[in-house]
Amino acid sequence: MKILVIHGSPRKKGNTMKFFQKIFNPGSGDEVRSFSLVDLDIHPCTGCLACFEKGECIFQDDMVRIYEETRWADQIIFTTPVYFNTVSSYMKLMMDRFQRDYARRFILKLEPKVEAGKSGILLATAGSVERHHEFDGLRFPADLMFKSQGIRDYRVILLDDVDEGRLEERMTSQKKLYT
Ligand SMILES: Cc1cc2nc3c(=O)[nH]c(=O)nc-3n(C[C@H](O)[C@H](O)[C@H](O)COP(=O)(O)O)c2cc1C
Repeated sequence: MKILVIHGSPRKKGNTMKFFQKIFNPGSGDEVRSFSLVDLDIHPCTGCLACFEKGECIFQDDMVRIYEETRWADQIIFTTPVYFNTVSSYMKLMMDRFQRDYARRFILKLEPKVEAGKSGILLATAGSVERHHEFDGLRFPADLMFKSQGIRDYRVILLDDVDEGRLEERMTSQKKLYT
């Protein structure tokens, strides 16, 4: 399987990366490509909607690579810390730029609505406990993000209550991503 991992935390050795590394165990035949958004140059979407007409973005920055890699992958894994009950700003920047893919798929119909056999995972950590759907602001955008990629088969894996040194303890109950 071709697995693309896109990390959305600015802290490369932070909670989200530790959690990801703890449960990510690809098979020997899998090919894995990883990016950290903090290393990439991604211009915010300006809503010009050029992509609705041309299927391409006016900005030729590191998103061009992400567009290629997301097409390449059989499975896309996004990782992010929860910031203000949603994804990190690095991830939100990338997400908005998926408007180009949304336009290609649903407006211009250049790509199929659903990519057969393609799957996704959004993995997140949050400092506090989820009691009353606080992190729905993570799940609803994720749904659209995967939709822009033609992915219906996706999971959100959220590890909450990790702050103040509780990460290790909270991780012990988590299973491996692949058996
Ligand atoms: C700017 C900022 C906003 C945050 N907002 C929330 C929040 O709304 N809810 C929450 O539970 N934790 C929040 N946190 C805590 C982080 O989600 C948590 O510490 C996370 O595990 C950090 O992951 P990282 O070490 O990979 O960056 C916030 C942290 C920061 C820095």
